[in-house]
Amino acid sequence: MTAKTAMSDITKSNAWTRLEAHREEIASATLSDMFIADDERASRLSWELDGLNVDLSRQRLTTDTLDLLMDLARAADVEARRDAMFAGQPINPTEDRAVLHVALRDETGLTGVGAEAKIQRQTMIDFADAIRAGAETGATGQAFCDVVNIGIGGSHQGPMVATTALANSVNTPRVHYVANVDGTDLSTALRGLDPATTLILVASKTFTTAETMTNANSARAWLTSALGDDAVAQHFCALSTNEAAAGEFGIPAARVFPFADWVGGRFSLWSSIGLSTALAVGGAAFEQLLSGAHAMDRHFSSSPLGENLPVLLAVTDLWNRIFLDLPVRAVLPYDERLRHLPAHLQQLEMESNGKGVTLSGEPVSGPPASVIFGATGTNGQHSFHQLLHQGPALVAAEFIAVAMPGHDLAGHHDILLANMLAQAQALANGTADPETPHHHCPGNRPSTVILLKTLDPYRLGMLLALYEHKVMAEGAIWNINSFDQFGVQLGKALSGPVLSALKGDSTPNDPATAAALAKLRAWRS
Ligand code: F6P
Repeated sequence: MTAKTAMSDITKSNAWTRLEAHREEIASATLSDMFIADDERASRLSWELDGLNVDLSRQRLTTDTLDLLMDLARAADVEARRDAMFAGQPINPTEDRAVLHVALRDETGLTGVGAEAKIQRQTMIDFADAIRAGAETGATGQAFCDVVNIGIGGSHQGPMVATTALANSVNTPRVHYVANVDGTDLSTALRGLDPATTLILVASKTFTTAETMTNANSARAWLTSALGDDAVAQHFCALSTNEAAAGEFGIPAARVFPFADWVGGRFSLWSSIGLSTALAVGGAAFEQLLSGAHAMDRHFSSSPLGENLPVLLAVTDLWNRIFLDLPVRAVLPYDERLRHLPAHLQQLEMESNGKGVTLSGEPVSGPPASVIFGATGTNGQHSFHQLLHQGPALVAAEFIAVAMPGHDLAGHHDILLANMLAQAQALANGTADPETPHHHCPGNRPSTVILLKTLDPYRLGMLLALYEHKVMAEGAIWNINSFDQFGVQLGKALSGPVLSALKGDSTPNDPATAAALAKLRAWRS
């Protein structure tokens, strides 16, 4: 085992140097060569945890590569950072906060923050079940048929992924998601809804986010124009740490579902921010979602690094990005229920690890986050998969599929699964008959296949927590803070002066902005 180092630059560690040498040693071996060299490769590079299987056998690495990558993780002291997170230490130093979303799903030894979180969750779940049962009604006494969740970023993506994956469309209430300040989003969601039977959730950790508050104010105007100001108290909920601001908005304390500030936005599905999902699937299913995430927490906190699924995904990503120079990863769920997963992972991974400095403020020696894009299969096959198969720049692919379908249409799921496996096979092996250059698919293109036995709440919780911990482990290897997001502040700050200039109240000093505003004003006049 490599000695631990406190160095912030992991690229200067022995483990790194040995990985560079190892890359040269295996550079000429293709994926086909690797399968020929080891006829147990498919099983040797697969790991299963309770119906969730991660297959790395089509990655361009060997068990030796993984051993060296684990040495790198040890050199970076990933385990210590992980343990500090579970212990509630302030591992987000730039915001002086603990990172304790794991406490939201931990039912053991409920004391301190865990006990308080449990009370908050129970209140939220009881409310969700009362709405679902029609026991809590709107201002006219009618049950709620529709729920509109207004939030953005982490107050939108996680709940939308979970609700879309788990909700049965015949259930009521129907849940709609609004994020964009573009009025098209809210007006489309509200079209056809009856204010008397609509519950509106304002999901915002801070209760200050401009997009969310703009949408919340417009939604309130829509509601009060039909039902009067007093209806706000029964038709609005706030999911927020900022109880005072929610009160000022007019939402009574009983309809404010709080959570602690140690819950980061992109990790907040498990808190009161998950109310829309609890409304869609019911309290019991929401608890199952948390149980599945907790199972992954236990695995992450206690499994040896070499069998630790989040760590395996983290080091594989690092290997591809740095050592094989593949900075882009395509996330390809072969399941419509997971259609919002790529967007969720874009925030989770790129907002967390899209950082340029280490914890001590020095430039980071590599890109800690992949650029992520993706779409569901088989749709992507008729779009960007062409580039995956024949484009000169290699892209790492990550397939996610579920053994059991979420519908009863005969034959569809077999075709779907067969296509997913065929894509992974084609990327790895290429064309058998490269007669003409235009037909030639070079192959040797790496992919991971993640299989779930079922897409039930428990296994979805496992999957989402798997990615959360992968991000945490990657950030620990690079010694960055995965839990702040100061990069988004500059654009937010500039939008105020630009808005003032758009209204003609000031003149922008940026020439390109001034020219664009002049054009916009001319076209809008
Ligand atoms: O995009 C920045 C961000 O702070 C995200 O991290 C967060 O998920 C999102 O804005 C929404 O913030 P809030 O929940 O406070 O409205």
